[in-house]
Amino acid sequence: MLTTFGCQMNQADSQRLRGLLNAIGYTETETEDDADLILFNTCCVRQHAEQRLIGRIQSLINHKRRNADLIIGVSGCMAQNMQAGLLELLPLVDLVFGPNDIEELPLLLQRAAIGKTLGSFVGKGAFDGDSADGIILDRPFSAMVNIIRGCTNFCSYCIVPYVRGPEISRPLPELKEYISDLAARGVSEITLLGQNVNAYGRDIGLSEGFAQLLEMIEEIDGIKWVRFMTSHPRDFSTVAIKRIAQLRKVCEQYHLPVQSGSNHVLELMKRGYTREKYLALVDAVREQVSNACLSTDIICGFPGESEKDFIDTLDLVEKVRYESAFMYFYSPRDGTEAAKMPGQLSEEEKKGRLARLIKVQNRISLEESQKLIGHDYDVLVESKAARDENHLVGKMRSGRSVNFPGEQSLIGKYVSVRIEKARNWTLSGTIANSKKES
Ligand code: SAH
Ligand code: SF4
Ligand code: F3S
Repeated sequence: MLTTFGCQMNQADSQRLRGLLNAIGYTETETEDDADLILFNTCCVRQHAEQRLIGRIQSLINHKRRNADLIIGVSGCMAQNMQAGLLELLPLVDLVFGPNDIEELPLLLQRAAIGKTLGSFVGKGAFDGDSADGIILDRPFSAMVNIIRGCTNFCSYCIVPYVRGPEISRPLPELKEYISDLAARGVSEITLLGQNVNAYGRDIGLSEGFAQLLEMIEEIDGIKWVRFMTSHPRDFSTVAIKRIAQLRKVCEQYHLPVQSGSNHVLELMKRGYTREKYLALVDAVREQVSNACLSTDIICGFPGESEKDFIDTLDLVEKVRYESAFMYFYSPRDGTEAAKMPGQLSEEEKKGRLARLIKVQNRISLEESQKLIGHDYDVLVESKAARDENHLVGKMRSGRSVNFPGEQSLIGKYVSVRIEKARNWTLSGTIANSKKES
């Protein structure tokens, strides 16, 4: 059984882990109780993510007692960060490996089976061994595609560059083959991933590489919808926005993490843009892309953030009117610059600001959602609804989920849905016409 924490990078790596395990005879179990291998693909971006994992592993002590052959493995960012320290901290763990050592898993498993505890963190070729037919998808029609691994930005609060290594772009011809193979397998929706997709190609000598890549995908038969994340506001050029806005397949979903609305804090964060430049980018997106759906990430209570700085963030949120936002309070990470900065705020202050921000954003999200009522939108049907057998859940081009009555035979198809009800982020409606292949 494989459990994934953290961001979509980890979900993409899990697609691969499942493929590798399947190739050596493993099948996924429903629960931990009947598993011979329990693997956690982990995240260490905030302390909370780490604590959750530690608790989960400690709770497996009885499983280990009951099944002497049970192997517990930890992969992903926390594994890379703590390396062998994780084996010391959690004696139940048998093997640990980093995000650039996924290919080592079959070998590590063989060794763990003969009773060795071990780790692998060498970080071999970033994309070695990753092929479209070597992955297992949660949904056969939708895949995540890593276009750029690692990150070289070193935002002062962030641990990702230390655990994921430097930015490495996957060459265009390789991606063309990979995505064409996915299309041949029946995949029609892809999500392109990177910590900074706008830097795609920079390390391999491409200029406007990201726009080039999207233009290339536009030509691949079978791919209908293309999403991407995450965009870095510093590297998203207006030229790129104009070129991307012309492409039919690219969905109008723009995740543009701002982190803070205060220039003082943005500078301390080393984000490389100002509030004014960010707002100009938002204007450019809204001008070029009709129906653009904007979302963001925001950190509250960064070291040195004053009440005035925080008000600047609230003000920016009111100005942009994001459809949704991921909001966090600042979590110091060992080894990063910000963890050593003066002016660290108390937990109470950080959480207090986060609560105020969430309140403002929730109101805006609801107001924006309600504007959709009465309109029809194309939806890719993803699955049946968790609570009702006769309902389906689908995703709009904007990335929003919508719940509606329908038959399971529609899963994987594109339909048009009329929105009837809206909460903060979730929507519900009914199919507006029977089948619509877009
Ligand atoms: N590459 C992406 C984000 C990756 S991490 C970008 O540059 O936007 C996802 C989000 O986690 C970040 O956008 C940030 O809002 C949050 N985050 C990262 N480090 C954090 C920390 N130390 N404390 C709180 N939130 C953090
Ligand atoms: Fe972290 Fe910044 Fe890289 Fe995003 S761009 S992963 S926030 S260092
Ligand atoms: Fe977490 Fe690693 Fe992603 S630290 S947010 S899983 S890149």
